[in-house]
Amino acid sequence: MAAKIVVTQPVHPEALDRLRAAGHEVVALDSPRGLPADEVRKATDGADALLSQLTDRLTADVFEKTSLRIVATIATGYDNIDARAASEAGVVVTHTPDVLTDATADLAMTLMLAVARHIPESDTTVRSGTTGPFRLLHEPMGIDISGATLGIVGLGRIGEAVAQRAHFGFGMKILYTARSQHSAAEERFAAERLPLEQLLAQSDVVSLHAPLTDETRHLINRESLSLMRPNAILVNTGRGGLVSEVDLAAALQSGQIAGAGLDVFENEPDVHPDLLACGPRAVLTPHVGSATAKTRAAMTALAVDNILAVLAGDPPRNPVP
Ligand code: DGY
Repeated sequence: MAAKIVVTQPVHPEALDRLRAAGHEVVALDSPRGLPADEVRKATDGADALLSQLTDRLTADVFEKTSLRIVATIATGYDNIDARAASEAGVVVTHTPDVLTDATADLAMTLMLAVARHIPESDTTVRSGTTGPFRLLHEPMGIDISGATLGIVGLGRIGEAVAQRAHFGFGMKILYTARSQHSAAEERFAAERLPLEQLLAQSDVVSLHAPLTDETRHLINRESLSLMRPNAILVNTGRGGLVSEVDLAAALQSGQIAGAGLDVFENEPDVHPDLLACGPRAVLTPHVGSATAKTRAAMTALAVDNILAVLAGDPPRNPVP
């Protein structure tokens, strides 16, 4: 039976074609900053499915007496969705894990290297013609990533993919924190599981891959930053809310830690002015972990698969846990 599917923001045209080809009505909205909850609620009145993105706000109100049967978010993280309220309302929520693992892990390594080797400031110096001849005592000197110790906070799919790159590609020693022990990863990467405090104290690079929940919000704050080494680099490709930006900026300004590579921010697309004031100690990218053409197309296709499955009465491939 034909269903009504609301699409909150522009997506690959092939995705809309597939939904229409299956006989469904598609209402394609164009909300470049994401839909607030009241607008989602209005837009989904009488709709069966919602194809949404991480900037849409799907609070409990959205699911009250809703006609929706499925919300498919084109993202792995779903902290913007009240999944419990959805489940209580009988709405399936799906996400797009796996397909963005490699692209996001690649960006975590990119940020780590960019901070360690001062890539943005080097680029600026070359462009401004202020480099001069080769200098043995070049300042600022880089930090060696090869052979350094990497602390991974949250050893899920992306955390493991980072461990793989770091261990096999860069000979890094791998430490991790996770709710449960990951014996296979321990064997594969000679990884050691430690409590967060010890991981922070022993790592040269700390890379965040935990989901954003009430428990993990501001996991990196003044206290946890004070445990890190002065030569340490923080990398965040997970969610901005894992880090207190004010506390991180203070730690960077005071030299408490050496640098940070951040792809995600507490109030995207805004970045706290204190962080911007840190200059090249903070390498900043605009939430582009999954932004390769192949990956973004695969995410969208997977979200469409999930919608079509649920509308056909089949189990979805990627229900959120
Ligand atoms: C996700 O999928 O959660 C990423 O943050 C966006 O690509």
